[in-house]
Amino acid sequence: MKKLKLAFIGAGFNGQIGHLKPFSKIKNCEFTALAEDRDKLRTLIKKKYNFKRTYKTHYELLEKEKEIDGVIIVTKRNMTAPIAYDFLKNNFNVFTEKPMASTYAQAKKLVKVSKNKKVLYKVGYNKIFDPVVWKAKKLFDDKKITKDLGKIIMIKSHRLSGSGYPKKPNYIATNEKNIKSEPSWPFAPSWMKKKYFKDYEKYLNLYSHNINMIRFFLGDKLTVKSANLDDNYISSVLLNYKKSIPVLLTTGFFTKDGWDDYLQIFYEKGYLKINFPPQHIAGKFTNFLFHRTNAGKKNIVYKSNKTWCFDLQAKSFIKDLELNKITHNEGSDILKDMLLVENIWKKFIYEQSR
Ligand SMILES: NC(=O)c1ccc[n+]([C@@H]2O[C@H](COP(=O)([O-])OP(=O)(O)OC[C@H]3O[C@@H](n4cnc5c(N)ncnc54)[C@H](O)[C@@H]3O)[C@@H](O)[C@H]2O)c1
Repeated sequence: MKKLKLAFIGAGFNGQIGHLKPFSKIKNCEFTALAEDRDKLRTLIKKKYNFKRTYKTHYELLEKEKEIDGVIIVTKRNMTAPIAYDFLKNNFNVFTEKPMASTYAQAKKLVKVSKNKKVLYKVGYNKIFDPVVWKAKKLFDDKKITKDLGKIIMIKSHRLSGSGYPKKPNYIATNEKNIKSEPSWPFAPSWMKKKYFKDYEKYLNLYSHNINMIRFFLGDKLTVKSANLDDNYISSVLLNYKKSIPVLLTTGFFTKDGWDDYLQIFYEKGYLKINFPPQHIAGKFTNFLFHRTNAGKKNIVYKSNKTWCFDLQAKSFIKDLELNKITHNEGSDILKDMLLVENIWKKFIYEQSR
């Protein structure tokens, strides 16, 4: 079988540990081209991962490489969207890190060009590729399993994060400065005042993971009821699911080593709680508890210690390329996460102005 030809844009920290490493374990693909601005890093990565050709900028790669099956873009956040746009516009299948863009309008532009060009476009919310999450979702969707638990009465999504990274991450770091800042699109929506930009950017970056997971379980019947994003310590957002069920999203920072990240769905007689570990730390795994004893059923506890969501995410993109169809986290779906985040910020700013 012909190997799929991959191109990578950016081989920095997460580019290496979250993407190059996982894709390198997959047999039916090859590392054809790399664009990396930093010279020493580019040379070292070429050697380590056996890239056929390398380029300093993504523009050179775009011009020279005509037979790439899929491009993986892992650059700084304000550069993700314009680089993705350049590739989508030139008929490449694209996978990018999250967030897909800095604003809903930018994200819409990306989805539109991917549809016009009929190319594949996937966004990297890695957590949903964990089999434990799929198992939990299957139970959640199974009416026979949930029938004795009564109605859903509340949902809670909670993330108090620390750094989330190992103390000594295993990747190639050079002494070169990471200064590339172009091409760049605006950091925040045009309707937002500058004083909110920093907090908005942080919120979108960190907690769009929670939004993505909430939408994976609950779908699109979500509206924003209230938002307090005064993130000196903790932000709290109240969404409504199916018009009346509260979804509480609490987020903020712990100490550097702390981590508490879960999604909990409360029924009248039990709950489903999925715990997410810091995703870049090896040896910590997603698990869930389906607490049903109030309904006279056995609890279900589930964990898997054999898989890592970044590995499965990479496999998923390769499968998508083979099928010529995005199976999960298609750009057009993630667009809805972007809208929800922007609506949360609109609500917060509106409530502040009253
Ligand atoms: N899913 C997660 O849990 C998670 C975690 C961390 C980071 N991220 C995402 O990963 C991305 C950042 O990744 P990182 O930490 O590897 O960033 P980084 O800044 O360390 O690496 C980016 C690399 O891209 C290179 N580069 C940038 N633009 C280029 C261009 N046009 N042509 C060639 N090279 C270019 C830079 O030289 C740099 O080495 C962000 O989008 C961030 O949101 C996701």
